[in-house]
Amino acid sequence: MSSYSNLFSPVKIGNVEIKNRIAMMPMGVFSPRLMNQDGSYTKDGADYYIERAKGGTGLIITGLVPLPPGHLPSIVNNVETYVENQRYLVDGCHKYGAKVFIQISALSGRSSTNPADPAPSALPNVFDPSQNNREMTVEEIHKYVEMFAAGAKAAKDAGIDGVEIHAVHEGYLLDQFTIAAFNHRTDEYGGSLENRLRFPTEIVQAIKKACGEDYPVSVRYSVYSKTKGFNRGALPGEDYEEFGRDIEESKIVARKLQEAGYDMLDCDNGTYDAWYWPHPPVYMPAACNLEDVAELRKAVTIPVICAGRFDDPALADQAIADGKIDMMGMGRPLLADPDMANKWMEDREDDIRPCISCHFGCLARIFQIDYATRGTKDISCALNPRCAMENHYNITPAQKKKKVAVVGGGIAGMEAARVCALRGHAVDLYEKTGVLGGVFIPAAAFSFKEHDRRLIEWYRKQMKDTEVNVLLNTEFVKEDAAKYDEVFVATGATENKLKTQGFDSPQVRYAVDVLMNQDIHDQNVVIVGGGLTGCEIAYDLAMKNCKVTIVEQLPEILNVEGLAKANYDMLRDIIDYYDVKVMKNSTVEKYEDGKVSVLETTYNTPNINERAITISLQGIHKIVKEIPADTVVVSVGYTENQELYHAIQAENVHLIGDADHPANLMAAIWGAYTTALEV
Ligand SMILES: Cc1cc2nc3c(=O)[nH]c(=O)nc-3n(C[C@H](O)[C@H](O)[C@H](O)COP(=O)(O)O)c2cc1C
Ligand code: SF4
Repeated sequence: MSSYSNLFSPVKIGNVEIKNRIAMMPMGVFSPRLMNQDGSYTKDGADYYIERAKGGTGLIITGLVPLPPGHLPSIVNNVETYVENQRYLVDGCHKYGAKVFIQISALSGRSSTNPADPAPSALPNVFDPSQNNREMTVEEIHKYVEMFAAGAKAAKDAGIDGVEIHAVHEGYLLDQFTIAAFNHRTDEYGGSLENRLRFPTEIVQAIKKACGEDYPVSVRYSVYSKTKGFNRGALPGEDYEEFGRDIEESKIVARKLQEAGYDMLDCDNGTYDAWYWPHPPVYMPAACNLEDVAELRKAVTIPVICAGRFDDPALADQAIADGKIDMMGMGRPLLADPDMANKWMEDREDDIRPCISCHFGCLARIFQIDYATRGTKDISCALNPRCAMENHYNITPAQKKKKVAVVGGGIAGMEAARVCALRGHAVDLYEKTGVLGGVFIPAAAFSFKEHDRRLIEWYRKQMKDTEVNVLLNTEFVKEDAAKYDEVFVATGATENKLKTQGFDSPQVRYAVDVLMNQDIHDQNVVIVGGGLTGCEIAYDLAMKNCKVTIVEQLPEILNVEGLAKANYDMLRDIIDYYDVKVMKNSTVEKYEDGKVSVLETTYNTPNINERAITISLQGIHKIVKEIPADTVVVSVGYTENQELYHAIQAENVHLIGDADHPANLMAAIWGAYTTALEV
């Protein structure tokens, strides 16, 4: 029996009983391999959800299905095929005792990447503020209301247990209608709060009329907007004036939504202008929305879900017992590990692979184009390549059991060892140091990377559980290769060093050393390299009362492929908040007498319309600036260690992880996983 009796108690949403308090949060699954044009899920799409139902999740809320017909799938494109196609999803989830709600979306208004999409008023587009989205017509609003009712009816006819309206949340279209700063209309859909709420009110009323009063309708809801202005979010704990919805108005809105007929509020915080609230990166505190959602719950009697970096069952259990929330919502944690609920139920928390809030495999990925299909890429997870590939990437027994060596006990090496061992191979894992984890140990050393440290522990436990023969303090020499059928070379990468004048000083240190020792505080620090690690070190040191300058040779910092907007925006806001100075187009010339000489080059920059920004253009200027630095921290990337690989290169030798090419954790894990499936 589980230790979490409240979490594993049933709850009712309208008339529908959910077997426990664990809800899978909606996460957009609209790539062509997973969603049909009629808005239903393909077999692969449905099986991705069914896997999470099988893992013990009580309520599956699917990712948004678009409402307005267009180039994306839409739930009203063909309701007949929709009803037919969704039955597989419904039956599959019901088989495991889970209930399914689908989320129907009015889409994005000014938060769309397409400035032609309608918004409540002509408003600056989030992604290209130089353009305004146009005002939606009243006829369009009425049409949307009708389509919501038709879509919900199709869902009901397909046997789906309820619908969720997307969204008075996150700065999407309906949220923009409800917020005065975004809604400047003078008709019956603008002005007073009643008018601003008219659109979501008409939607729920139309659905109830079409589907019956007892058909559950949830609404995705942001308690606070956490927004300072267009494109400006408020960091946790920051003193700011709310531009969007504050808690006083939020309580009134929530009550009115309940009165209008909504049966549940699925809550967190934020808008697209403060995207790190609804999509909390690793820099956000755990359970970042819990106290705000708890405050809101005081205003309503319908069930309330809370989501956002919320994967602590003890905290959730207590919050339910205290009446702060009714259900815990988890999105990404269930991508990383679909069996969380069952593992909690069985008191096997150590077996859970923890989401590290990186967004590389999920949020950032679903907006990338897959050039093979010309559609967007599938949702997945950096740590779990099998996510949304349940019918393809299974770990199956190897036809021939082999003797396998894995050289290097970093994450890529451990992933290859884990998969090979699960497939029945006999695996020796060579690690020349005394500890498993490799370069991920310093990478996980930041105070805010507790989940990364948990991931290392998870891998170490996997080595034991899968009976990998771990050989610590053991160098693999090239002659050893002959003893094995297959060899994985996961020898990692070495930090790049700079030969700049004065960089032989002990005051000049490298990222790994700084992260491992955590001994810098209350100093002037210059960081050379404004990539992800450099910027994260800047954040870490700024929190430790350092005055930090980042020197970046490119025109921008954070040139990181696949970095999600939420993570990028939050780091940029953090850098501003802590007054970290960023010198772009700059290189370090020397370090001498406690000062770094930085050569900064400025170019002529056009205005946002690509025209002259001044009357007389400035041309190229090179200026040397001297920046005081008690310590210089160098973070300028890695070079792969391929010596062993070249010495033993053969068909049965596989180069993986940073040793192949230094990249992010996702590349390391996916490369190791897919290679290990093939041997
Ligand atoms: C890949 C991805 C897609 C998402 N799509 C949606 C969506 O379609 N509708 C929605 O309301 N929220 C969406 N979200 C937000 C999640 O529902 C959830 O609130 C968020 O991930 C924070 O919860 P977590 O920390 O448990 O992941 C999405 C999040 C991710 C990572
Ligand atoms: S890709 Fe990163 S953020 Fe997304 S689910 Fe996986 S670990 Fe979590």
